[in-house]
Amino acid sequence: MKRTALIGHLNDTHAGQTVTLHGWVNRRRDLGGLIFLELRDRSGMVQVQVEPDSAAFADADRLRAEYVTEIEGTYQTRPESQRKGGLADYEVIATRVRVLNTAKTPPFELEKGDSVAEDIRLKYRYLDLRRPDMQRNLMLRSKAVAAVTAFLDEHGFVQVETPMLTKSTPEGARDFLVPSRQNPGEFYALPQSPQLFKQMLMIAGYDRYYQLARCFRDEDLRADRQPDFTQLDMELSFVDQDDVLEIQEQLLAHVFRQTLGIELPVPFPRIPYMDAMNRYGSDKPDLRFDLAFTDVTDLFQGGEFKAFAEAQTVKVIAAPELTRKQIDELERIAKQNGARGLAWLKRDGDTFTGGISKFVAAQTPALLTRTGVAHGGTLLFAAGDWKKAVSALGAVRLALRDLFNLAATGPQFHVSWVTEFPQLEFDEDSGTWTYMHHPFTAPHPDDLPLFGTARQGEIRAQAYDLVLNGYEVGGGSIRIHDPEVQGRMFQAIGFTPEQANEKFGFFMDALEYGTPPHGGIAWGFDRLIMVMSGATSIREVIAFPKNNRGVDLMALAPSPVDTTQLADVGLALATE
Ligand code: AMO
Repeated sequence: MKRTALIGHLNDTHAGQTVTLHGWVNRRRDLGGLIFLELRDRSGMVQVQVEPDSAAFADADRLRAEYVTEIEGTYQTRPESQRKGGLADYEVIATRVRVLNTAKTPPFELEKGDSVAEDIRLKYRYLDLRRPDMQRNLMLRSKAVAAVTAFLDEHGFVQVETPMLTKSTPEGARDFLVPSRQNPGEFYALPQSPQLFKQMLMIAGYDRYYQLARCFRDEDLRADRQPDFTQLDMELSFVDQDDVLEIQEQLLAHVFRQTLGIELPVPFPRIPYMDAMNRYGSDKPDLRFDLAFTDVTDLFQGGEFKAFAEAQTVKVIAAPELTRKQIDELERIAKQNGARGLAWLKRDGDTFTGGISKFVAAQTPALLTRTGVAHGGTLLFAAGDWKKAVSALGAVRLALRDLFNLAATGPQFHVSWVTEFPQLEFDEDSGTWTYMHHPFTAPHPDDLPLFGTARQGEIRAQAYDLVLNGYEVGGGSIRIHDPEVQGRMFQAIGFTPEQANEKFGFFMDALEYGTPPHGGIAWGFDRLIMVMSGATSIREVIAFPKNNRGVDLMALAPSPVDTTQLADVGLALATE
């Protein structure tokens, strides 16, 4: 059963030779006594011709879609000048066909995979994974792992595995809990990230660490989120923010070069969080196109147009010409994202018409020069509370991107850093301060005196996010290594020393035993591969993902368990 090569590895050097191939029958066609087969493996597809008088014919006649088959035959290529770039350019004239295994009729046509309901694809994932698109995605992923590993090995990173059955790590989601049989009534938490362990590896002197780490977060799912997902997790000692960003730029550039043959321009632009929000209404702006906001709060302050006069913020975006229907749709999006409405104006010569044009006579010259809106173009305004106004207009900006295909005007991949995130955020719902990245992130040293004052919302964190085409594909920070500052941080987010000790006592202890300055980052590895592959759902780059309801439709997990299994771990269900 020795095969000559994977199908996709056959080349002109095999021309005229006898080859042995293994694969699945993609398609079988009978043409005037001849049988044409498409034989597929994970590397490619080749056309096989079986002549009616050949010894292979009777066996070939038994073949059906997805039968596992061995083909022996002569590999033929068309002369280069006659190649049309299709399957017919290369052909195997079969001399022998062996059915290695039969297959039931697949529940969906693999070739129509893109249009098949996702639930069916997930239920029969092993068939879905046979499709060339899925194979390409998983190959890209595998190549990216190889590139990452090679780079990090070469740069002195030590690969260490950290536990899956552990204690809660605070990354802002709910934990998945695992009951302990040997310690009834007690639970492990699956890690939301290896954050505390990687910091302890720095305390332990490992200097540079990495891991492709499985992380678990019980949160609402979206196209770019899974309950279990993979991070490329890294931590480095004796570094400042510039050191981390620089090596990350080299690493990402290396991965793009090795996998896609694309040269990313380095260094990546760095955009402070406040600028990203003020200009693009997002902390992960898609910068393949600009369409930045203009601030016009001052133009309306105290004026007659009441809706804007008292607003904390008035931002405007200069859009192309829009129909009323398009404006209505954009307004719906703005409202969905927290705005009260989406005011608009249409430029007509040196005046504005439509929308709020009655109210902007005084502001017209300034609006024209500041926004540079084109003739016939539309100004779209969001006004109100700063965060709500910019976020709503940010959503409108992305809708305009999709409406006018603006992403295609820029580079295929745009990478940037968003920096200087706030250390703390006020949570209106609970009325308390909370961390924005995680509680181990170091504040900017100049802002330390603001802890515990009314201005603690202004403390800048030494945190950074890696943003690719509008997706947050990584996040990290320089960490607190001074136990006193760590204590202040816990206090700011309302932990009493007892609570801090109960949750993170082991870590607080460790901090006191000679902690080097350190920092790191984790890439959302699935998310990165999703964007690199051009997919729009993370499920396209994960072999066995859960659906949007967190269900593995193939293995049927989660699923009920026996009462005896529950009793073993000291549990009983409250409701039957
Ligand atoms: P953070 O929580 O930002 O940081 O996570 C890092 C990256 O992981 C990806 N990510 C996810 N991907 C898929 N599904 C999810 N549910 C999901 N949640 C997050 C994102 C994100 O940027 N310990 C810190 C890292 C550090 O400080 O070093 C952490 O986990 O792409």
